[in-house]
Amino acid sequence: MSDFLITPAPGFDQPIAVLKHCHDRIRKQLATLQKLLAHLPEHGADADAQQAAQAVLKYFNQAAQLHHADEEDNLMPMLQACARDADAALLAALVPEILADHQRMDGDWLIIKSQLDSIAKGLDGPLSAPDVARFCDSYTAHMAKEEAHIAPMAKRLFSPEQMAELGAAMQRRRGLEPAGAQQAETVPAAVPAAPAASGDALAALRSDYGRASLSEADVLADPIGQFARWFDEAVQARVNEPNAMSVATVDADGKPSSRIVLIKQYDERGFTWYANYDSQKGRQLCANPHAALLFFWNEVERQVRIEGTVVRTSAEESDQYFYSRPLKSQLAAMASQQSATIASRAQMEANYAAVAAACGEHATRPEQWGGYRLQPQRIEFWQGRRSRFHDRIVYVRQADGSWIIERLQP
Ligand SMILES: Cc1cc2nc3c(=O)[nH]c(=O)nc-3n(C[C@H](O)[C@H](O)[C@H](O)COP(=O)(O)O)c2cc1C
Repeated sequence: MSDFLITPAPGFDQPIAVLKHCHDRIRKQLATLQKLLAHLPEHGADADAQQAAQAVLKYFNQAAQLHHADEEDNLMPMLQACARDADAALLAALVPEILADHQRMDGDWLIIKSQLDSIAKGLDGPLSAPDVARFCDSYTAHMAKEEAHIAPMAKRLFSPEQMAELGAAMQRRRGLEPAGAQQAETVPAAVPAAPAASGDALAALRSDYGRASLSEADVLADPIGQFARWFDEAVQARVNEPNAMSVATVDADGKPSSRIVLIKQYDERGFTWYANYDSQKGRQLCANPHAALLFFWNEVERQVRIEGTVVRTSAEESDQYFYSRPLKSQLAAMASQQSATIASRAQMEANYAAVAAACGEHATRPEQWGGYRLQPQRIEFWQGRRSRFHDRIVYVRQADGSWIIERLQP
C-alpha cells in the first residue's frame, strides 16, 4: 500500500481522535509482538525478529507512556471536574480501574521489555507466551473499556475550549508548541538535537517515569529483604552493572567525595565492597566512618540510598574474597597503591611486572587491601512515577535494632 493511502494521524485539535489513534498503534504493536512470538521458535533472534523487537520496545517505552500520562494527568482529571450524576458515578467506578490497569500493564511491560531487549540485540533469549498473552489481553480489554465509556463521555461533555486545552497539554507533553494543528504521535527525541551542555539542553533532557509504583503495602518489613527483591528485579531487567554503587565519604574537614565501587555481598550485617585501605576513601573512612551508598537502576526507574557506619571486614573474610579473584586481579591489587600519584602508565606496568615475577602463581593479599562493610542506619527505596510525583519509602533503624518504615514526599 502506498503511503498516501494510509489515513494520516489526526491533529492535536482533535485530542480524542489522537488518543484513539494511539490505541490503533498499540493494537498494531501487540499484533507485532504476537507475530514475533510465533516467529522465534523457527527463526530465532534473526534480523526480522530484532527489527520487530526494536519497534515494540520503541513504542511501549515512549509513546505508550506518553499516552498513559495524557489520560492520567489530563483527560481523566478534566472529565472528573465536569462530570455530573450518572457520568460522575461511572467515572468514580472506572477511573480507579483504569489507573490500576495502567499500573498492572506497566509492570507486565517491564517483564516483556527485559525479554525483548535481548531479542533486539540478536540474543536467543526466550519470549514467554503467557507473559505476552497477559500483556496483550490486558491492553485489549483496557482499550475497549476506554473506547466504550471514556472517549464518548469526553466527546459529549467537553466544550471546544476544553478540547483545545486537552490537545495543548498533550502537545506540550511531547515537547511541541501548542499553536497550530500538529500531527499526533510525534515522539520528541528524549535527548536534545544538539547535545551541547547548555542549561537549556540539559533542562530538556527529561523523561517521565511511570512503569511501576511502590507503596507501604508492597515493601517487606525487613529492608535487606526488600533490597534483595529489588536487586533481583534489576538483574531480571538486565540493568547494566546492577552491582555498581556510588560510595560517598567525607574527609576530616567535612569535604565530600564519591566514587563507584562494586558491591560483593549484602546481608543483615550490611553492604560489602573491597578496596585499598590506604586509598583516598580509605583515609577518609579512617577519619570519619560515616558513608552513603547509592544504586541507580535506570531501566527499572529505581534508586536505593543507604547510609550508615563503615567497618572493615575481618582479615579472614578479606582473604576469602581476595583468593577467589583471578590471579591477575590479585597481582594488580598488590602492584597498585590506590589513589597515589605515579609518573606514567609505563611505571605502573613495570610495578605489575615486578610483582608478577616475584609472586609467580602465588599472590598474597596485601594487608592494606580488604573489605569494607557499611552497617545501614537508613535505607530509602525510590520508585520513579509520572510527572515527578515519585514514591519514596524509607527504613530507619531504631535503637533496639528494629526498623520503622515511613513515606517521604517526592
Ligand atoms: C564500574 C566501576 C567499578 C569499580 N569498582 C571498584 C571496587 O570494587 N573497588 C575499588 O576500590 N574501586 C573500584 N572502582 C574504582 C573507584 O571508582 C575509584 O576510582 C577508586 O576506588 C579510587 O577511589 P578513591 O581515590 O576515592 O579512594 C570502580 C570503578 C568503576 C567505574
